[in-house]
Amino acid sequence: MKATMDKLVNLCKGRGIIFPGSEIYGGMGNTWDYGPVGVEIKNNIKRAWWKRFVQESENSFGVDAAILMNSRVWDASGHTTSFTDPKMDCKNCKTRHRADNLIEAHSKGAVNPDAMTNEEMEEYIKANKVVCPKCGKSDFTNIRTFNLMFETSRGVTEEGQNVVYLRPETAQGEFVNFLNVQRTSRAKVPFGIGQIGKAFRNEITPGNFIFRTIEFEQMEHQWFCKEGTDGEYYADFKKKAWDFLVDLGFNPEHLRYKDHDKLAQYAKSACDIQYLFPIGWSELNGIHNRTNYDLSRHAEFSGKNMEYLDPITNEKYVPYVIEYSIGADRLMLAVLTEAYDEEELEGGDVRVVMHFHPAIAAYKVAVLPLQKKLGDKAREIYNKLVKSFPCTYDEAGSIGKRYRRQDEIGTPFCVTIDFDTLEDGTVTLRDRDSMEQIRLSVDELEAYVEKKIKFN
Ligand code: GAP
Repeated sequence: MKATMDKLVNLCKGRGIIFPGSEIYGGMGNTWDYGPVGVEIKNNIKRAWWKRFVQESENSFGVDAAILMNSRVWDASGHTTSFTDPKMDCKNCKTRHRADNLIEAHSKGAVNPDAMTNEEMEEYIKANKVVCPKCGKSDFTNIRTFNLMFETSRGVTEEGQNVVYLRPETAQGEFVNFLNVQRTSRAKVPFGIGQIGKAFRNEITPGNFIFRTIEFEQMEHQWFCKEGTDGEYYADFKKKAWDFLVDLGFNPEHLRYKDHDKLAQYAKSACDIQYLFPIGWSELNGIHNRTNYDLSRHAEFSGKNMEYLDPITNEKYVPYVIEYSIGADRLMLAVLTEAYDEEELEGGDVRVVMHFHPAIAAYKVAVLPLQKKLGDKAREIYNKLVKSFPCTYDEAGSIGKRYRRQDEIGTPFCVTIDFDTLEDGTVTLRDRDSMEQIRLSVDELEAYVEKKIKFN
């Protein structure tokens, strides 16, 4: 793997993929804006996920729930009381750190802080003289827990204001709509609800580009099933989540399953799929067997009966849930990492190329007139193709430089218009990965590209 975080950040900034947020004001830490190329790539990632897990998945339904939810939702889910991180402040330089991160970094991954209590973490940090990554001193406060939810208030007058939270996960929008979706879709258990949307977390240690940010998008899918079938569906979703990544072009050697060492008290099993990011093996997505905890808690807090009535057996029960959750931005970072390549060309030149799956690439075809005077014909071809899939047009600079620009944003095909095009209606089509060129007629172009850019 040739990608480093610096190379990705620079490429993204230079090629309109991702810019630092609020840049002209000096930025706003750990916020990022997707540029013209990046927004297309991210939308394509979301589209591929939605197609696979909502549209093509039998008995799955989509929702788009509100970001702001009744605060009782977060009481029921446990977020108001236990969505916390163990934070410690360095008494010397006043920077804030997560105790678990300090231990993980100090032990180089040999010690697992997830399996420790707060007291055990404090003891470990003292006994091993773990130092502050900023100033190098080992002088921390005790652990204090810090709620990660962003709080705001709702109300038109100062007095009548209510606390509301920016949702820290999209999952609750799926749970609270369980009855609505089941009833209106006449869904029979087992069935699934999928959602893509923004989530917000006041992370203590965000960073590593778009790996951990305070505002991000999640793609989550809850599979409601009967107790007793949950083990089978848990295994099924582990496989589906893995297959999705491999179908997107990930090398399986860059992926691995990692079971959680410490389970939430309601969870029966949980695992992550980790990816070999430039920062090392880290969580890309999670698969959790959440039992019937979520629906039972919402039944308790809302007073609504969340039971499912089996129309065949007449049995009533609160379904179990298998959750599959992946960050769209984190997947974007993994996709960028996996696609990045530097190839040495004849003559010692290096080309940077992004080998995206064609379905993920921002533009499927770049239309390039060999000379500006071929612009009319090239525009005509561009205008025809762009009705079927996103294309880009470039007539500035040498053809070699134009190819290079497209390689850097991962455009799978470049179509060159030359003087023969005017004579016989053929164009040159260059393949991004092999750099091979073939000649084909303008009439064949659309069907040729359509076939290659499908995500199945
Ligand atoms: N509903 C379950 C849930 O939210 P999670 O492990 O906290 O579980 C799921 O988050 C996924 O969301 C992660 O695997 C990761 O891909 C993404 N994610 C979580 N926190 C993130 C953050 N601060 N920035 C970017 N992505 C994040």
